Amino acid sequence: MRCTVFGTGYLGATHAACMAELGHEVLGVDIDPGKVAKLSGGEVPFYEPGLADVLRRNIDAGRLQFTTSYVDAAAFADLHFLGVGTPQKKGEYAADLRHVYSVIDTLAPLLDRPAVIVGKSTVPVGTAAELGSRARELAPAADEVEVAWNPEFLREGFAVEDTLRPDRLVLGVDRARSGRAEVLVRELYADLIADEVPFLLTDLPTAELVKVSANAFLATKISFINAISEVCEATGADVTALADALGYDARIGRRFLNAGLGFGGGCLPKDIRAFMARAGELGANQALTFLREVDSINMRRRTKMVELGTRAVGGSLLGANIAVLGAAFKPESDDVRDSPALNVAGMMQLHGAVVSVYDPKALDNSRRLFPTLNYATSVAEACAGADAVLLATEWDEFRSLRPADLEGHVRARAIVDGRNCLDADEWTAAGWSYRGLGRG
Ligand code: UDX
Repeated sequence: MRCTVFGTGYLGATHAACMAELGHEVLGVDIDPGKVAKLSGGEVPFYEPGLADVLRRNIDAGRLQFTTSYVDAAAFADLHFLGVGTPQKKGEYAADLRHVYSVIDTLAPLLDRPAVIVGKSTVPVGTAAELGSRARELAPAADEVEVAWNPEFLREGFAVEDTLRPDRLVLGVDRARSGRAEVLVRELYADLIADEVPFLLTDLPTAELVKVSANAFLATKISFINAISEVCEATGADVTALADALGYDARIGRRFLNAGLGFGGGCLPKDIRAFMARAGELGANQALTFLREVDSINMRRRTKMVELGTRAVGGSLLGANIAVLGAAFKPESDDVRDSPALNVAGMMQLHGAVVSVYDPKALDNSRRLFPTLNYATSVAEACAGADAVLLATEWDEFRSLRPADLEGHVRARAIVDGRNCLDADEWTAAGWSYRGLGRG
């Protein structure tokens, strides 16, 4: 089959490469000529394990190309995916939909034969129906243009795996239309469906809501355990042992129950905020007020980490040397959007600390976003002369650190484990003062 994918960020580039991997002919479209040139040359403009191999293999096989031309894209296929970003609006909770509308406004006037546009971006409920009407108004093919929604659940760091082996496929369709969207999308995903990936057909608002509800649930699960970790701190209990014990109950499950610095990134924080904003517009704001609490519990973990860091250096950050290990919002990613690690590093600097940040993959992005922090190119360099070490992102390189690795570099043996991923006993036995979030 042939399809196009509009937007070549994490979502679009992965979807384009993976659809080609399934044997389809794919054209990725982006307004940024720099991104198109990089991707066409087989280079992924961000860090995503395994994606470069899939990209190159399919470019070489002639199944995958990239362009900036909407005219070429409209001519190339009758199935178009929408994978552009929907970031948080500046100074507001709502999602900024300008990229989604801009694709529709540019593409639709070029659609002169029946076409299906399938949205993958996370959007406020009701957007798909509105985009459908707008596309039909603008397109010469008018009523022959159908908009469907196929939300994407991929995690950064596992994007290829999540796209080629998803837990489920959800497709929301406009039941008043021809049914062509379902036929084309089922055909595109035929190999996955044959592999017994569940395929759920819904109406448009349900499909849009599945995505934000999933993210709201995951955020709530993390904030739940982080709220419990605040109680653990007040009582001397250990949240990691508690989470293990809870997790054995199959109804609860151990995944997404890791207490620590909380969630960040380009999805969970902005999605729960946009969800609250949309519920408010729909007159259902009371239903989601708990998400405000989920958000504040999450942000409180960051101030708690600063507090533990301050205590570790004797009560004042002024002039203290702080090593922050990790800048990405999570391991296996170079994404620093709403990164708890950088947020903590920034707060410590504001309180007068000299902060040195090291991350295996996210230094370039960090420098762009937080140019005033100091960046080191290794753990040893970040820890040189440190009065306290803060572990903020649980990269394997940091998880496997032994106390001896930092001896001779740090000035004082104090470590704050923001991801509860070190062996507290081992560090304490080696003469370190160890502090974890929610660990007594
Ligand atoms: C998330 C959803 O998982 C994915 O389905 C959706 O499509 C996009 O948003 P992602 O943002 O890539 O994916 O990261 P995820 O692995 O979900 O982690 C989100 C954040 O939660 C990270 O900052 C992570 O460190 C944090 N987290 C996760 C915890 O603090 N504790 C946990 O137990 C799990």
